[in-house]
Amino acid sequence: MLGAPGAGKGTQAARLAEAFGLVHISTGDIFRANLSQGTPLGRKAQEYMDRGDLVPDDVTVAMVKDRLGAADVARGFILDGFPRTLPQAEALDRVLAERDSRVDCAVYLKVPDAVLVDRLTGRRVCPSCGANYHARSHPPKREGVCDVCGAALTVRPDDREATVKKRLAVFHQSTAPLIDYYRDRGALLKADGEGSVDAVTGFVVSALKQRSRHD
Ligand code: AP5
Repeated sequence: MLGAPGAGKGTQAARLAEAFGLVHISTGDIFRANLSQGTPLGRKAQEYMDRGDLVPDDVTVAMVKDRLGAADVARGFILDGFPRTLPQAEALDRVLAERDSRVDCAVYLKVPDAVLVDRLTGRRVCPSCGANYHARSHPPKREGVCDVCGAALTVRPDDREATVKKRLAVFHQSTAPLIDYYRDRGALLKADGEGSVDAVTGFVVSALKQRSRHD
């Protein structure tokens, strides 16, 4: 899944994993899990994440390589938020080539920056069950309280406005070149990420089914 912060990569990756029976691998989620467990990897990643920068390529690639070594990925997987730089994309190609595999499709969710700033600065997350809300467009029934498990909702530290703007700048500089990288090899599927969550899922699922019929 390719797209700027807040484009809906996590939301759509979870739905696509369900629809196609794939494993959902989010590098952001793995970093956050390490952070909350206080591991050396989490401590290393935190300073970069808090200021909206990318975690260095060598750290990220080693982590993904390790995750792709697990048995469950044999049924196929969706990478959410990886690769995010050209060196990461090239490293991924090498890792997959070693297994006679390749990236079948890079799904790019396109959303204007102004919409992304609103989505992220309004996002509220449940630290306990992971449910996701938006202060205005998808508020919980009781302000600040998770509908699912009743825990107090929090704001992700990197969703504060100044950090969101930094993350967007990093996307345009370091990640956007991957759009051409995958387009040039005929692997890009571009989707309008501004529609409703259901509309985006519907478009991507049917486009992926169509592609697999032509493979
Ligand atoms: P990560 O967790 O991947 O953050 P991100 O890319 O900034 O993505 P987000 O989770 O903010 O957004 P998303 O596109 O997944 O959208 P979501 O579905 O949540 O990474 C965090 C940090 O980790 C990075 O900044 C970096 O430091 C580090 N990192 C991670 N991967 C790395 C890598 N490969 N290399 C180096 N460093 C790395 O949706 C966002 C909000 O919008 C939600 O509230 C959702 O409900 C809402 N929403 C979703 N879709 C719609 C829709 N269609 N309409 C209205 N609202 C919607």
